[in-house]
Amino acid sequence: MLYFDHAASSFPKPKKVGEAMKEAVDLYAANPGRGGHALSQQAAAVVKNTRKELADLFQAPHESHVWFYQNATMALNQAIVGFPFEVGDHIITTTFEHNSVLRPLKALEQQKGVHITYVEPDHTESYQVEDFTKLITEQTKMIVISHASNVTGALFPIKELGEQLSNHHATIVVDASQTAWKN
Ligand SMILES: Cc1ncc(COP(=O)(O)O)c(C=O)c1O
Repeated sequence: MLYFDHAASSFPKPKKVGEAMKEAVDLYAANPGRGGHALSQQAAAVVKNTRKELADLFQAPHESHVWFYQNATMALNQAIVGFPFEVGDHIITTTFEHNSVLRPLKALEQQKGVHITYVEPDHTESYQVEDFTKLITEQTKMIVISHASNVTGALFPIKELGEQLSNHHATIVVDASQTAWKN
């Protein structure tokens, strides 16, 4: 089979993924952190180690900064809808974001009265850092952008954007669904 839908979901999964899931189901699929018995503690240790590895991967200041969700859609919804926006706040995003970003933003616009500016990609289907920095105002509370588009694969220089906005209070939400991986 030739599988062409990798931007939506990789297939086949790496062999190690199946092996790790089978091991968990067969050997220690107890409630992590909810019991004092050996299996629960073993499951908790695996969760803790995973959290630590992810904190290292993303260079988080502490492993408590890593939260687990069922998928990227739920995590992005939580990050966007859970933010304490007020009427008149401003958000910058792009027309190329995934539905998991565009839908909660649309709901916020309708329900909370926030203003959203959508950056359009240029003729190379990418954006420049200045496309965002020039739109920033005192009301801008959040910038939501994917690190790599699931449509074009274009990479955005997210680090540079963060550096340029280090003195601004806007929160940058990065959708790294296509780029968060480890060798
Ligand atoms: C850029 C991007 N964001 C979000 C998602 C949603 O991911 P999930 O299926 O884990 O909810 C995807 C899925 O393909 C994606 O490509």
